[in-house]
Amino acid sequence: MIIVTGCAGFIGSNLAEELLKNNEQVIGIDCFDDYYDVGIKKKNLSELKKYKNFKFLKQDVRKINKDIIKDADVIYHQAGIGGVRYSIENPKKYFELNAAATFLLLEKCLSSNIRKFVYASSSSVYGNVPENLLPVNEERKCAPISPYGCSKLAAEEYCMNFYRAYGMPTVALRYFTVYGLRQRPDEAICKFANKILNSEPIDVYGNGQQTRDFTYVKDAVRGIILSANSKSGGEIFNIGSGQRVSLSEIIRIIEACLDKKAHLNYVNSQSGDVAHTLADISKARHILGYEPKYTIEAGIKEYIEWIQKGKRK
Ligand SMILES: NC(=O)c1ccc[n+]([C@@H]2O[C@H](COP(=O)([O-])OP(=O)(O)OC[C@H]3O[C@@H](n4cnc5c(N)ncnc54)[C@H](O)[C@@H]3O)[C@@H](O)[C@H]2O)c1
Repeated sequence: MIIVTGCAGFIGSNLAEELLKNNEQVIGIDCFDDYYDVGIKKKNLSELKKYKNFKFLKQDVRKINKDIIKDADVIYHQAGIGGVRYSIENPKKYFELNAAATFLLLEKCLSSNIRKFVYASSSSVYGNVPENLLPVNEERKCAPISPYGCSKLAAEEYCMNFYRAYGMPTVALRYFTVYGLRQRPDEAICKFANKILNSEPIDVYGNGQQTRDFTYVKDAVRGIILSANSKSGGEIFNIGSGQRVSLSEIIRIIEACLDKKAHLNYVNSQSGDVAHTLADISKARHILGYEPKYTIEAGIKEYIEWIQKGKRK
């Protein structure tokens, strides 16, 4: 049996669905945190409930009963709260839902025999890496610039510590800007697509030349499952596409998919936002056999088709 925490969210629901398709028995856990529209999470969950081998527990991972964990083979800990900008105003919430929640879950796993604990970390742990030092690899000293990045790094350190101190087989995956089906509404590609569809102006922070390594969710899910099935313990992996694209270019690709022009409104850069991200994915390639398959054009096309089918506005 497999546990996916945060199963009603973006990455957790995509991951749980892939595991269910592979005939795994999945217990999904989510507390429906209200960081964004809970209706979206309920809709994600309704897709998972179509599978006979799925069971859902509405619960906060901080209060999970040890008996549930006891029989788990793998725990994919995807529950948490994203959003760099919101974390600047709400640092305590990020500490509680990312750092403390992960610690409490790890502690409860001590009395289980799990084969792997897979933690959803983030590229935000790196902070602002000078452009000439990109792509960034896992050896780089972390210096997060937002409370979000800090909370993700604290949780990651606990995962690594539980491996060293207790031999718990943990891996931490540093996701680089994941996008695709069921994407969070606060994330750039979702916001941009909906603004263009609704003929509303898009706020572009800075000059639009900041770049991101965008990772299609199906590629990320493949990397996540590979990490659980690897022999690795106490290891950190970058999960990215290994390519970077500017926000201006992203808008251009979405415009082309929708065949509709965007109205742009340039505003000041936000604190907590890094200028550029780009993953060195050679470690995941060599150890996990991870290979991203989606180009940014193919990923955005699939995502836009999904929106246009009315799956999500
Ligand atoms: N989306 C990205 O680009 C990205 C990038 C890097 C890292 N991550 C990390 O991946 C994970 C999943 O991100 P996402 O984009 O799917 O976010 P999401 O907000 O869509 O999903 C997270 C889910 O976790 C649930 N949750 C939060 N705290 C909980 C708790 N204490 N108990 C039970 N459920 C709880 C929320 O209700 C939500 O449904 C997060 O940990 C995030 O930090 C995401």
